[in-house]
Formats: sequence, C-alpha cells, structure tokens
Amino acid sequence: MTAATTTERASLRSQRLNQLTHAPHTELDALVKSHAPFETRESFARFVVAQYLFQNELKALYTNPELIAIVPDLAERCRAEQAGLDLADLNTEIPADFAGAVQNPSLGEAMGWIFVSEGSKLGAAFLIKRAVGLGLSDSFGARHLGEPAGGRAEGWKQFTRILDSLELSPEEEAKAEQGAVAAFERFTELLKHAYATAPKAELA
Ligand code: HEM
Repeated sequence: MTAATTTERASLRSQRLNQLTHAPHTELDALVKSHAPFETRESFARFVVAQYLFQNELKALYTNPELIAIVPDLAERCRAEQAGLDLADLNTEIPADFAGAVQNPSLGEAMGWIFVSEGSKLGAAFLIKRAVGLGLSDSFGARHLGEPAGGRAEGWKQFTRILDSLELSPEEEAKAEQGAVAAFERFTELLKHAYATAPKAELA
C-alpha cells in the first residue's frame, strides 16, 4: 500500500464532505454537549435559537428555484418554520438576525451548506430522544428534530444520491467543500451567540 492509497479521497462527493467535516462535527458535538441542552428547557431553548437562526438563514437556499430544479423537494426539507414554532412552545422570542449569514453562494457552495443542514437531521434522531426527557416531542418544542416525512434514512439517501450525481467543475467542487466547512463554522458561531444572549434570569 502506498501513501497515496492511505490518503485516498473517497470517490463519492458526500463521502468526501463527510470526511472533511468530521473534525468540525466532533468539535460542534462537544460544544453542544458542553451547554447540557437536555438538562433544562431553558438551555434547550438556546440550542433551538441557534437552529432557528441557521435554518432561517438557509431558507433562501431551500427556496431557490435553481436549487429546487436539482433537489425537487428542497423547500419541504427546510426546518425554519418548525424551529420557529418550537421557540413559541418554549416561550422564547424569535431572535433577531445575526450578521454574517451566507449570501448568494455559488451552486457548489450552496450544496455544501445544504449537505450540512440535511446531515444534521441524522444526529437529530439522537437528540429528539433526549428532548423527550424534557417533555418535548416532534409536535411540541422539538418539532425541528422530528423525523422527516418518508423517513430520515430515505431522505438522506435521496439527497446524497442527487448531490453525488451532480456535475461540478473543479472550482465548484472546491466551493462545495468550502461551503460545508463554512456551514459548521457558522453553526458554531450561532450556537455561541445563542447562549451568550440567553435571558439572564433564565440561565442563572
Ligand atoms: C449544523 C450541523 C450539525 C449539528 C449541529 C450536528 C449535531 C450533532 C450532535 C449534537 C450529535 C450528537 C448526538 C448524540 O450523541 O446524542 C450528532 C450526531 C450525529 N450527526 Fe450531526 N450535526 C450536524 C451535522 C451533521 C452532518 C453534516 C452529518 C452527516 C453528514 C451528521 C451526522 C451525524 C450522525 C450520523 C450522528 C450520530 C452519531 C455519530 O455518528 O456521531 N451531522 N450531530
């Protein structure tokens, strides 16, 4: 075996993006857990603030006609509305926009961002089980973590099939990778912001 084969890049784009974001995912997972979001509804509400901001920023991509032409059920995949309803259930105000949202990404870059947002539905299967301990469910407070229509695995399989068969120029391929990494950076920022802006009385 040569060095080249041990460092070989996965052949599928989704697998490459997965590999590339493994470290940021592990870091984000640790950051989420450091806030113990399943200990209290107040802490969970801050996590939902981050989820809402992230999904709301990505709404422009989920509803983009050019992207819907590639992923036909894209608009239905967006969870901004569910996250907004979760905030209401948790007596938490809809947060103001936080500067720094992705703006007019190229096709590859947009797909990188959506890859991360869609992938986060896989981890959500674990998170919703913990949310049940707070008396929450896919119809109250944790709607945005609920199982998508048609199932999590199937939804992910369909998305990655489309992502993997999309023809991209080498430039756009690089943009997809940049988009996926940037999405993790952005969620990390939003999570920090969400906890930093917690109402004092609630988390005291
Ligand atoms: C904003 C983006 C994301 C967030 C906030 C997020 C958050 C999390 C968290 C907190 C867990 C731990 C669940 C637990 O142990 O109870 C988790 C697990 C998981 N996530 Fe993510 N995730 C994100 C993106 C992704 C992406 C892009 C993928 C796949 C491409 C993914 C796949 C998974 C899987 C399969 C698990 C299950 C356990 C594991 O393998 O680590 N997530 N995620």
